Parts: sequence; structure tokens; C-alpha cells
Amino acid sequence: MVKSKRFVFARQFEGLPKESDFQLVEEETPELKDGEILVESLFNSVDPYMRPYTRRLPTGITMIGEGCGRVIESKSSDFPVGTVVMHRYGWCTHAVLDTKNKDPQNIIRKAPADYPKDLPLSLLLGAVGMPGMTAYFGLLKLCEPKEGETVFVNGAAGAVGSLVGQIAKIKGCKAVGSAGSDAKVAWLKELGFDAAFNYKTVSSLDAALKEAAPNGIDCYFDNVGADFSSTVLNHMNLFGRVSICGSISTYNDNEPAKGPYPFVTILSKQLTVTGFIVTRWIKEWPKGMEQMVQWIKEGKIKYREHVTEGFENMPKAFIGMLVGENTGKAVVKL
Ligand SMILES: NC(=O)c1ccc[n+]([C@@H]2O[C@H](COP(=O)([O-])OP(=O)(O)OC[C@H]3O[C@@H](n4cnc5c(N)ncnc54)[C@H](OP(=O)(O)O)[C@@H]3O)[C@@H](O)[C@H]2O)c1
Repeated sequence: MVKSKRFVFARQFEGLPKESDFQLVEEETPELKDGEILVESLFNSVDPYMRPYTRRLPTGITMIGEGCGRVIESKSSDFPVGTVVMHRYGWCTHAVLDTKNKDPQNIIRKAPADYPKDLPLSLLLGAVGMPGMTAYFGLLKLCEPKEGETVFVNGAAGAVGSLVGQIAKIKGCKAVGSAGSDAKVAWLKELGFDAAFNYKTVSSLDAALKEAAPNGIDCYFDNVGADFSSTVLNHMNLFGRVSICGSISTYNDNEPAKGPYPFVTILSKQLTVTGFIVTRWIKEWPKGMEQMVQWIKEGKIKYREHVTEGFENMPKAFIGMLVGENTGKAVVKL
């Protein structure tokens, strides 16, 4: 038996989550049953979806989330001690996992056998993990960007957005992004974005989009939603494609936002607008992960990680990510 820690989702969030909404619990892990493994987390992820998803969950559960860890005890021949896995057991230092669980949405995933030794394992929660697959499939499958087209992404200096812009460049597009600080904008230019602006300091979003994308936008990868998106839609070209990935500007709202209503713009510009959850392509993730590893090795995709040290700091890391402290993927190193 091993002493483990986990964070309980103790109070429903109101507005921006607070550290007091979580409770740290210490306990001993139970004896393993046949088919079970004990995983020690190396890195845990903090992601925006945790904020809206918890709305429909009861308090008292382990706070939801994904971790990447190593098997330290095993009663499964498929997962010997030392195997690196990603799991969705939540905010914990250790997880007892049933390897016989075949629920595709909740499956324990092994690190790819050929995962390069010189890449950090934390990327399995970032560019080579869920956010990477979100950028890869969300852009390529839904926006279908073509050479010479303009791709606009907001939240562009985050885990998903920074990859969307770089994949757009690989596909021969013009990449335009917005982010919430001048330092983030400078990083986007280093990554090869053709134009980028700080949405917090521009005098008008409309004018900033006109300047950054003078020929209009063909593909809009939306991480932010609400008013921001209403403005972007006015800059879309005829037959443009919109991939609705997230709506982070609304996640801390206590009441759903009202209007404006985009349907006339969608109609008149004949836009294709699709919302998605990345697990819809879960069967294709291995192909996407292989491609991301290859692009990273070739230097075509660059990444940054915002690493918070220490399991006890998970609430701080989560809240910090929601208010934009991260550049690139926010992860916690245990
Ligand atoms: N559909 C899916 O399957 C799926 C999967 C993964 C992620 N997502 C969504 O993708 C988006 C990005 O996720 P991520 O993991 O890459 O997070 P992230 O961008 O690394 O971190 C969140 C960022 O959101 C920005 N932000 C916070 N409040 C904002 C506001 N009011 N307006 C504009 N930007 C704001 C902050 O950057 P700034 O400093 O730039 O404000 C912050 O750094 C989120 O909406 C998330 O829910 C969807």
C-alpha cells in the first residue's frame, strides 16, 4: 500500500474557481485486484474544459482530469511495472486503474512504443496528447484549410491555439492569431504566425482583424466564443469554415450569455460552422500523435509548457491557466 493524495471537487464553482473550492485528501491505496495497476503520476494536466464540465457533476468526487504516470505495481501482464500511461482518474498522485475497462472514452492509453526518449513525457498531455489532437483534427477535419487561405485562431498562445497556427503554416496557409499579452504575441511571431495582436490592448477588435487579415478569413478556429466570435464572423469570406473548439470567455459566467445571433451572417456568407469534442476521433489519435511527433522532430512544430511544480499547487495552476498565466500547455509536475 502507498500513501496517495487527491483533490476533491468540494464546492461548485461560482465565477472564477477559488482554491477553497478544492479539498486535499490523503489516503492509502487499496490492495490491487486481478487486472489492476497502480500508477504514480509524473504530470497532471489542467485544462479549460474542467471549468464547464464540473457544472453537471456532483461535489465530493475526485476533481476530473488527465494524468501521465508510470506503473509502479501491476496485476496485469499487459501493463508491466515501468509502463508509461495516460489516464483520466483525476487530480491525484496515485491511481488504481482497472485495465479490463474498455470504455473507449475512459480507456488507459499507453505512451506510443516509439515515443522519442529526448521528448518530455509531459507532451503526452500537450502537443502529443489531447490538446495536440484537438488542434490537429479540429483544424484539418473541420476547416479543411487550403494553401493560400487565411486561418484565424484566438487563444493562439495556448496549448491548442499555438499548434493550430503552426499546422496552418505547414499546410501553406496564412496564420493569424490573437492572445492576451505582448509577450505572447511576440512568441506567436517567433512561431511563424504571419500576423498576431493583443486582443486586450487593441482599440477595436474589428479594426485589428481588418489589419491582420485584410483579405478576410477562410478558416476560423474558435477557442474563445461569445462577442469575440460575433466580431470574427463579420470578417469571414464566402464559404468559410468555422471549427468551434471552445468558448473560454464564457466558462466563468454564472448565467448563459444572451445573443447576438449569428445565423443571418452564417446564411449570407454560406459558412460551415461545426462544434466538436476531440474524442470523436479517438480511434485516429495514434495517427495524429505519430504526425505531431514527426513534426516536432523535424522542427516544424515548436511548443512551450507552463510547468507548475508540486501536486499541492494544482488548484493554483488551474486558476492561473484560466486567467491566462500560461504560454503553451499548462501542466503540473508532481
Ligand atoms: N473541443 C474540444 O474537444 C477541446 C479540447 C481541448 C480544448 N478545448 C478548448 O480549447 C480552448 C483552449 O484550450 P487550451 O487547453 O489550449 O487552453 P490554453 O489556451 O492553453 O489556456 C487558456 C487560455 O485562454 C485564454 N483566455 C482566458 N480567458 C479568456 C477570455 N475571456 N478571452 C479570451 N481568451 C481567454 C488565456 O490566454 P490569453 O492570455 O490569450 O487570454 C489562457 O491562457 C478552450 O476553450 C478549451 O475549452 C476544446
